[in-house]
Amino acid sequence: MPDIALPITPTAPGRKGHANAAVKVWDLPTRLFHWLLAATVLLAFVSAEEGTGLAPWHVAAGWVAAILIGFRMIWGFIGGQHARFRNFIRPGAVGDHVAGLLHGRVEPSLGHNPLGGLATLVLLATVTAVVWSGASLIGGTGSEDLHEGLAGGLLALVGLHVAAVVVMSVLSRENLVRAMVTGVKPRARHPGAVDAAPAAGLAAPAAALAIIAGAYAVQQVDSGAFVPGSHAEAGETEDADHD
Ligand code: HEM
Ligand code: HEM
Repeated sequence: MPDIALPITPTAPGRKGHANAAVKVWDLPTRLFHWLLAATVLLAFVSAEEGTGLAPWHVAAGWVAAILIGFRMIWGFIGGQHARFRNFIRPGAVGDHVAGLLHGRVEPSLGHNPLGGLATLVLLATVTAVVWSGASLIGGTGSEDLHEGLAGGLLALVGLHVAAVVVMSVLSRENLVRAMVTGVKPRARHPGAVDAAPAAGLAAPAAALAIIAGAYAVQQVDSGAFVPGSHAEAGETEDADHD
């Protein structure tokens, strides 16, 4: 019998209404989380230097990053399909994935690939550690060297992260950054793929409540958390008695 492989995919032409050219991957809260986290972490970096114009924003940026991490911890259990930890934490698949890459095999991945899932956890953990060490400085129990060292580690990881995103975009011939903006990937690269299951019905209000509770908790720990410049020791210019 001749072995003729016919493409049996939902993209088959002529099936109007079913043949959507884009597959839903990242839900809106996950995308908002990502770009807000990137913005706050980058703001924390550029505002870290004492005496600069942005310095008064350092602690507020760090606290917002902390709240975002709190949100992501919850969203990892109740969010959309590809945002859930159990769908992208696959330590057993990392070895095969890396071996495949070394042999030039790039499997298209709808959500995070096995290495990307691991990188997600490492990035989330490192931001948490940086925020915790910064918050300890406010509490008077922290170490500046530790905070600065962890922040340096985070900067290196972010550089690696962006490089990996660019390299994987080229290798998989798929614009991963655009997917993190629009939430969709072209079906042509993922034949047969189905739209990601959305978050549970009450997930969005529950997450909103968690964000409000997080902001309240931060306010209790540090009443000046969201008041730019209220921490003289956090890199802002001290009262003008030094010139
Ligand atoms: C992702 C978040 C953060 C990043 C990347 C970050 C990064 C840094 C860096 C690199 C420095 C050293 C600046 C220097 O060269 O002297 C610094 C200083 C500092 N950070 Fe953060 N930070 C973050 C979050 C926080 C948070 C959440 C807090 C407090 C709640 C905080 C409080 C401070 C304080 C008080 C200093 C000044 C230490 C001093 O020189 O007296 N940071 N931060
Ligand atoms: C301080 C900066 C950044 C941090 C802390 C950060 C952190 C993260 C985290 C935690 C994830 C996992 C998303 C999730 O499931 O929640 C992620 C994914 C992603 N990030 Fe970033 N990111 C940063 C900057 C950037 C930048 C500048 C770009 C653009 C080049 C970028 C592109 C992406 C993409 C495309 C993904 C999805 C990767 C995939 O398809 O598996 N990130 N990032």
